[in-house]
Amino acid sequence: MSEMLPAGIRLIALDSIGSTNDEAKRLAASGAPDGTVVTAREQTRGRGRRGRGWTSPPGNLYLSLVLRPNVPATRLPELGFMAAVALTDTIAPLLPAPETLGHKWPNDVLLKGKKLAGILIETSLGADPSRADWAVIGLGINVRHHPSEADRPATSLAAEGIPITSEALLSPLLGRLMDLRQRWLTLGFAPLRAAWLARAAGLGETISLRGPMGAESGIFAGVDEAGALLLGRDGRVTRVPVAEVIGAAA
Ligand code: BTN
Repeated sequence: MSEMLPAGIRLIALDSIGSTNDEAKRLAASGAPDGTVVTAREQTRGRGRRGRGWTSPPGNLYLSLVLRPNVPATRLPELGFMAAVALTDTIAPLLPAPETLGHKWPNDVLLKGKKLAGILIETSLGADPSRADWAVIGLGINVRHHPSEADRPATSLAAEGIPITSEALLSPLLGRLMDLRQRWLTLGFAPLRAAWLARAAGLGETISLRGPMGAESGIFAGVDEAGALLLGRDGRVTRVPVAEVIGAAA
């Protein structure tokens, strides 16, 4: 299988592990090169954002990619947008209605408004703390299964009638990630931001957020050049660098 992988990828394909992100971080911290990828058929302690778990039975895709981008640490949040665009670019051609695929700020991928994939970026700064040492991009795609929690609607490719396997998705996804990474290093964030916005769910609509300042709502007006969400309220636009979108406001 490895001969089909994109140039620059070193794949470590595991059967079962606690978390591919934990393994990739361990490898990165001990010097693993850019392009090291850890996958697992299942995870026993998969992790999501905000300290949540990520239920990880066999059948879905669990992947963690080590990158060593020589960029200022302030640019690391851009990687989440890169991962989301790589996911939707890879999955869109498989769908009868690719416009049903959406990006939810900051890092989710939705299909018909339900969560299809999640992204967990973990980073380490260099000896010069204004620069990145490494970043691990963790991707979980609901290929066969999805959780059923009433308050967090989710779906899978199988549930939407798309009969692809995790194995078949892996190489195209890694290829797209590496292409976008190269474009990001040479062209910067602007093209990625535009590609992300082209599929942004709920743009121009009222959203509610839970952030460091508590709950707020307003119009989802876009994303700025650093990846912060732009929230329109009372005729003004505010930047929200960190928050969770909890839905359309009532
Ligand atoms: C989220 O939406 O909360 C992010 C989920 C990220 C899950 C992936 S699965 C592969 C990698 N290993 C983990 O433990 N988490 C990420």
